[in-house]
Amino acid sequence: MMRAVKNLIASAALLLTVLAPSTNAASLVQITENFGPNPTKVGFYIYVPDVLAAKPAILVNPHWCHGTASAAYAGSQYATLAAKYGYIVIYPNSPNAADQCWDLSSSQTLTHDGGGDSQGIVSMVKWTIAKYNADASRVFVTGVSSGGMMTNVLIGSYPDVFAAGSAWAGVPFGCYAAPGNNSGVYGYWNSQCASGNVTHTPAEWKAIVQAAYPGYRGWRPKMQTFHGTSDETVNYVNFGEQVKEWTAVLGLSQTPVSTTLNTPLSGWTKTSYGPSGWFEAYSAAGVTHNIQVQADTVVAFFQLSCSAGCFSWGQGSPSGAVPPVSPLTTSTRLTTSIPVAISTTKISTSTASSTHSAVTATTTPATTVQSLYGQCGGIGYAGPTACAAAKCSSYNAYYSQCVPTAV
Ligand SMILES: *[C@@H]1O[C@H](CO)[C@@H](O)[C@H](O)[C@H]1NC(C)=O
Ligand SMILES: *[C@@H]1O[C@H](CO)[C@@H](O)[C@H](O)[C@H]1NC(C)=O
Repeated sequence: MMRAVKNLIASAALLLTVLAPSTNAASLVQITENFGPNPTKVGFYIYVPDVLAAKPAILVNPHWCHGTASAAYAGSQYATLAAKYGYIVIYPNSPNAADQCWDLSSSQTLTHDGGGDSQGIVSMVKWTIAKYNADASRVFVTGVSSGGMMTNVLIGSYPDVFAAGSAWAGVPFGCYAAPGNNSGVYGYWNSQCASGNVTHTPAEWKAIVQAAYPGYRGWRPKMQTFHGTSDETVNYVNFGEQVKEWTAVLGLSQTPVSTTLNTPLSGWTKTSYGPSGWFEAYSAAGVTHNIQVQADTVVAFFQLSCSAGCFSWGQGSPSGAVPPVSPLTTSTRLTTSIPVAISTTKISTSTASSTHSAVTATTTPATTVQSLYGQCGGIGYAGPTACAAAKCSSYNAYYSQCVPTAV
């Protein structure tokens, strides 16, 4: 762990040397002071541009599996756009040294103020609002893969903190919940969910999200999701499940009000739901898990380039009506943790072992070679164990994945 941290600092320092533009002294900085409840010890990195907007918005950008805060910083345009528009970017760093995937499986992370990685990330948001007089009603989250899954988790567990989310190649809130008693089960790789075998009705997904914050009747964030139809790591089924989940939570029809072809890229189809397009979904034809993030589309959805009359928490609602609740202040959000309830509705029945044996019966014969990011091992897995131009990396007893040799 210490060595990993040192390596991270070393690589961050190297990045600065190579990438920092001479006109902007701002860089990625690690916050090591106590910033609030952080039970799983998520690393806190932040990018604050030299010139901030008067009341800056905050963008949270959780990295992908095997990623780091510095890799997310270097590997996307969000910091460059932050320097242009004056918002702040928070780059959390996964504490899960085994594979750097996020905690998407514990009852803690899936419960409002319940603990887990999600609570540590929210503490970063609250610290940043206080420190930089940032706009508590303009906090956004976006990420790819495990970061897209964490986007769904944060939007579900903390609807009072985030104004909107943008999930790329992710899964619905609660889909990764570890089977059985998931209290304290951090970093579980839910291969059933990843392979598209965890499905629910819209009403069931809605109940799963509502169980994260029982009694919450307030305003819900708007949401967009992107997924490649040929995603070999996180099955495309999860795209449709997110559509079901968030339209149900927002009280919208599953039938889109509009469909736009070839946007923002050729072959990508955008569907909008509800009169105000509160939820939108982009299906990328033929695209694999290596989906190319369109930062401009995300920044436009969050209105991060805006300086007055911008989209914010509590503004508008799916039906276009004025929301019934006013934005919570920073102080009212700093409440003590509520007890972590074990909700049986969070645990998918389709993770039962009977489904599991059905899975193994349909996998590819072991003689073939698995492609990059495909599964290559784990309990109940009978597919190819050799990786093409990659190595087979074990995440846990249930899941091994072909990853690039140089990670
Ligand atoms: C679930 O697991 C936690 C941690 O191991 C334990 O404290 C708790 O009692 C368990 N709950 C149930 C309902 O078994
Ligand atoms: C369930 O998982 C198996 C193995 O990964 C896969 O072949 C099958 O298509 C999945 N089912 C669905 C509905 O995606």
